[in-house]
Amino acid sequence: MSRMNSVIEAAGLTKRFGDVVAADGVTFSIGRGQVLGLLGPNGAGKTTAVKMLTTLLSIDSGSARIAGFDVARDPESVRQVIGLAGQAAAVDEKLTARENLELFARLYKLPRNRRRSRINELIDRFDMGSFADRPAATYSGGQRRRLDIVAALVAEPLALFLDEPTTGLDPRGRAEVWDSVRALAAAGTAILLTTQYLDEADRLADHIVVIDQGRTVATGTPVELKAEVGRDILEIHVPTDGDFARARELTAAVPGASVNADRRQVDVPITEGAEQSLRLLRTLEESGVRIDDFQLRQPTLDDTFLALTGSPTKPLEEVQP
Ligand SMILES: Nc1ncnc2c1ncn2[C@@H]1O[C@H](COP(=O)(O)OP(=O)(O)O)[C@@H](O)[C@H]1O
Ligand SMILES: [Mg+2]
Repeated sequence: MSRMNSVIEAAGLTKRFGDVVAADGVTFSIGRGQVLGLLGPNGAGKTTAVKMLTTLLSIDSGSARIAGFDVARDPESVRQVIGLAGQAAAVDEKLTARENLELFARLYKLPRNRRRSRINELIDRFDMGSFADRPAATYSGGQRRRLDIVAALVAEPLALFLDEPTTGLDPRGRAEVWDSVRALAAAGTAILLTTQYLDEADRLADHIVVIDQGRTVATGTPVELKAEVGRDILEIHVPTDGDFARARELTAAVPGASVNADRRQVDVPITEGAEQSLRLLRTLEESGVRIDDFQLRQPTLDDTFLALTGSPTKPLEEVQP
């Protein structure tokens, strides 16, 4: 991407808290209408990066520009072209969506004569008509998060920062947020979205930066990231817990092998082609392991993440309330 087209630019962003390097040379750029997924587990440094980019936290070293404005030197200009939404909703529960948006419009100093039309437009565009005149306390998780995001849009930001916008939402709420993100990108907003969910980054992001303990461990399109790991996975299902225990033992030494006890499934990365698959299946058979079913498949983004960071990602169902 050429520098001229980028709306959000981070170059070597670094932040230390005592001994912890929360962000260590984070670098990327995001153009108009693009979504960048900043992907990483809890504590990876996602919020730290977002806070530096949105002027909420000073930058130790490196630099950032938003719409050409230097974040450290010209924070006032930066604040006028960005929107920020995330887990901690800045929404007043006692007020309706419409009243909340009016507050934000005043906060962003939107001219009085444009406030009403802007708010009506947002309520229409994000399909909030059915609940916009009820107090926010009565909203579903998805409706509340949508209001939080829409509040960040009142001043028509060029750059939008969404810090884990779907964490804690049920599948329906998550789908609602995804629709909003897609609509915003289609309208030309540059979006930085942080997430712990690989499928979310896979679905929404044009480009993904994977960070772990502040450091970038991989970057690329979802397709490139999957290809980078570049190996197939032999997925084996066995019928009993006894078979599972033996299969687990026999595959433990293969680098990158992983197991799922509930599904009695063993996943083994295959790096030496068909011969390795055959050898492995033969070994299992000769050791008396019965096999229900096996298949050779392409790695998912989850496998990729495991390979890159050495830690599995959180399955979506585990983090739902
Ligand atoms: N204000 C702070 N003081 C000290 N340590 C912090 C502070 N904010 C974040 N950290 C540490 O920095 C690291 C990255 O945190 P954070 O950016 O919140 O990660 P993420 O948003 O990816 O979960 C963590 O180890 C966290 O404990
Ligand atoms: Mg965070």
